[in-house]
Amino acid sequence: MKTRTHRCGELRKAHIGQAVTVCGWVDVKRDRGGVVFILLRDVSGKVQLTFTEQHNKALVDQTRDARHEYVISATGKVTERDSENRTEKLATGEVEIMVESFEVLNTAVTPAIEVRDDLKCDPELRLKNRFIDLRRRPMQAMLQARAALVAAARKTLEAEGFLDIETPILYKRTPEGARDFIVPSRAHQGQFYALPQSPQLFKQLCMISGLDRYYQIARCFRDEDKRADRQPEFTQIDLEMSFPTRDDVMELFEKVVVGVVDALQSDPRLRDMDWPVLKCGRLAPPFERMDYETAMRDYSIDRPDLRSRDLRLTDLTEWARDCSFNAFKGVAEKGGLVKGLRCPGMGESFSTGQLKNLERDAKGMGASGLANLTVGATHAPPATDSPAGQAAPLQGGIAKFIPEAEQQALIKAFNAQPGDLLLICAHEKHKIVHAVMHNMRILIAEKLGLSDPAKFAICWVIDFPLFEYREEDEKLFASHHPFTLPQNAARVHEMAEISRAGREPHPMARMLRGGVKLDEILALRNNQYDLVCNGVEIAGGSIRMHRTDWQADVFELIGISKDEADRKFGFLMSALDHGAPPHGGIASGVDRLLMLLLGLDNIADVIAFPKSATGRDLMIDTPNEVEPALLKELAIEITAGKRT
Ligand code: AMO
Repeated sequence: MKTRTHRCGELRKAHIGQAVTVCGWVDVKRDRGGVVFILLRDVSGKVQLTFTEQHNKALVDQTRDARHEYVISATGKVTERDSENRTEKLATGEVEIMVESFEVLNTAVTPAIEVRDDLKCDPELRLKNRFIDLRRRPMQAMLQARAALVAAARKTLEAEGFLDIETPILYKRTPEGARDFIVPSRAHQGQFYALPQSPQLFKQLCMISGLDRYYQIARCFRDEDKRADRQPEFTQIDLEMSFPTRDDVMELFEKVVVGVVDALQSDPRLRDMDWPVLKCGRLAPPFERMDYETAMRDYSIDRPDLRSRDLRLTDLTEWARDCSFNAFKGVAEKGGLVKGLRCPGMGESFSTGQLKNLERDAKGMGASGLANLTVGATHAPPATDSPAGQAAPLQGGIAKFIPEAEQQALIKAFNAQPGDLLLICAHEKHKIVHAVMHNMRILIAEKLGLSDPAKFAICWVIDFPLFEYREEDEKLFASHHPFTLPQNAARVHEMAEISRAGREPHPMARMLRGGVKLDEILALRNNQYDLVCNGVEIAGGSIRMHRTDWQADVFELIGISKDEADRKFGFLMSALDHGAPPHGGIASGVDRLLMLLLGLDNIADVIAFPKSATGRDLMIDTPNEVEPALLKELAIEITAGKRT
C-alpha cells in the first residue's frame, strides 16, 4: 500500500500539478465509455478520480475491480477540471486526480443501507447497521461536532482551573429519581453494584477533599421510560466548585456554553453543514433569568420555550370564580386552576374538526375538555363611556353560557383583539391544566412560525420549589435532588424538628399535625438553577448542603430515616462532618445540548452507538443471556421473563 499523502477532501486548486496518493471508499462510479470517474470518500470529503483510456487503457479496464464501498488507494496528478465538469457541490469540485495507479485494499459486500447524506429508512435498520450509517457525512459531521463540543468545554474548564477527575462506574444504589442499572458481584455473591445516575456525590466528596474545582465528561446511566430526548446511557459535562455563589456557577457555565458555540461556528470541518448553531450568531451572556413561578404562570412549564415569549398564558381562575359557566366556576371554587391561551388572529385558523382534535388531545392528557372562543371580527372593545357592543363579543360552543359583561371581562383579562382565538382549560388538578396549556402553546407557536430552530432563546430558571408533593404516595420528594441547599434552611430545620417529634407514619402527616401548612411546604424554594434553551433543559445544578444537620433535615422531610440515611449515605454524612466547604455545581447533557445545536429531534442521532427505543443495542445485540455457568458463579437464578 502506498503512503497516503492527502485526505480526499483537502485537495484544491493550489494542489494542481502535485502527485498525490489518496485512500478511501468508492462512493460513486460512473463509466462514460473510455472515461471512468470514481468519487472517492474519506472523513474529510470526496474527490473525483479520473481514469481515461487515452491516458492508460489497462487502468480503465482495472476499474472493473473497484465497486461501491470497496476500499482503494489511488495515485495520480491533481489537475484542474474542465469548466463543464466543475461543481460547487464538492469542496474539491474544481480539481480531479488523473489516476496513474490504484490498488484495491479491500472488497465490500453490498451494504444493507445506502451511504447517502439524505438516507431515509427505518431507524432500526440504521441502528442495526450503525457502522455503515456512520459513514454518511451528516453522521460523521455530527461526531466531529460532538468532539469539538467536548474539547471546547474542556478548554474553558481547564483555563478556569478545573481538574478532570474520573469517578467510579461501579457505584451504589441512590435515590436520584430514575431506576438504577445494577451489576451483580461475583466476589460478593448476592450483592450488587449500581451504575451511577450521575457522579453527584463523588463530585461533592471531591470538594470535601479540598480539590476546589472538579470536572468530568461523565457517563451516566438511568433506567427511565424512553423519550426522544432520553437515552439509558448518556454523557454529562459535570462540574463542581468550592465556595461559589449561585451566580458564580451560572456565570462559569455561561462561559462553557459560549465557548462551545464559538468552537462549532469556527470549526472548518463543519462549514458544509446546515445546522442552527452555524446560523444563530454569537451568544451574548448574561442569559436571562426567570423564576420558577413566572415560568409556570406565563408558560405552564419550568422549561419555557422563549422563542415565543409573547405567547403567554392567562390565569383565569379569579374570573372563573364569579362566572356563570358552572364547569369553570366549580373548578375555581374547589381550588382548581383555569388557564387560557390567546391565539392572536387565529379565530379562523382551525376548522371545527381541528378544534375537536385539539380537545381530544387535551382529554388524552386528562382534561375534561378544552373550550374555544373566538373574538368577533367586528367586535371593538367598548369605550368606557359607551354601552357594550351590540353583538355578543365572543362566539363558540360555550359563549351562550357566558353573559356579555362576563365576556367583556374575559376579553379584558386576555387583552384579546378581534379575530383572536381563545383556548381555555379548567381542572381541579393544576398539573393537568399546565400539561394541556403547555402543549397548546407549543402547537400554536409552531403554527405562528415562532419555533425557528435557528434561533436560540436561552434562559436560566431559578428559585424552584424545594419539594414536590405526590398525593398518591402522601410523600414529599426533593424536586432537584436531596443534596440541594434550601433557601431557608432555618425554617426547614423547624419543620424537620416538628416531624421528628410526631408519631404519624409519614413526615407529611407529622408536619400537618404539628401545624405546618402544605402551602408553606410547597412555597419553600431551593438553590437550583436550570439552563433552558428553546424549551429543552440543557443543564441543571445547585448549591449543595455542606452541613450534616441541614442534610439530615431534608432527609427527614422526604422520609429517609436516620437508619436509612446511614446505610445509604453514611459516607456522605461522615464526609460532611469532616469540614465540608460550601460548594455547588452543575451538569449539562452533552447529547441534549448537541441535539439542540444541530436542530435534531432524536437523541439517538447525536450518539455514535445509541440504544434503540426499547433500550437494545441492535447492532451488537444486547442485552442478552449469559452462560448458565456464569449465573451460577453469581448465585443468580433466572425464574421468569423470556427474551423479547
Ligand atoms: P440532572 O438530573 O438535572 O442533574 O441532569 C443534568 C442534565 O443531564 C441531562 N440528562 C439526560 N440526557 C439524556 N438522557 C437522559 N436520560 C438524561 N437525564 C438527564 C439533561 C440534564 O439537564 N447531578 C445533577 C447535576 C448537579 O446537580 O450538578 C444531575 O445529574 O441535560
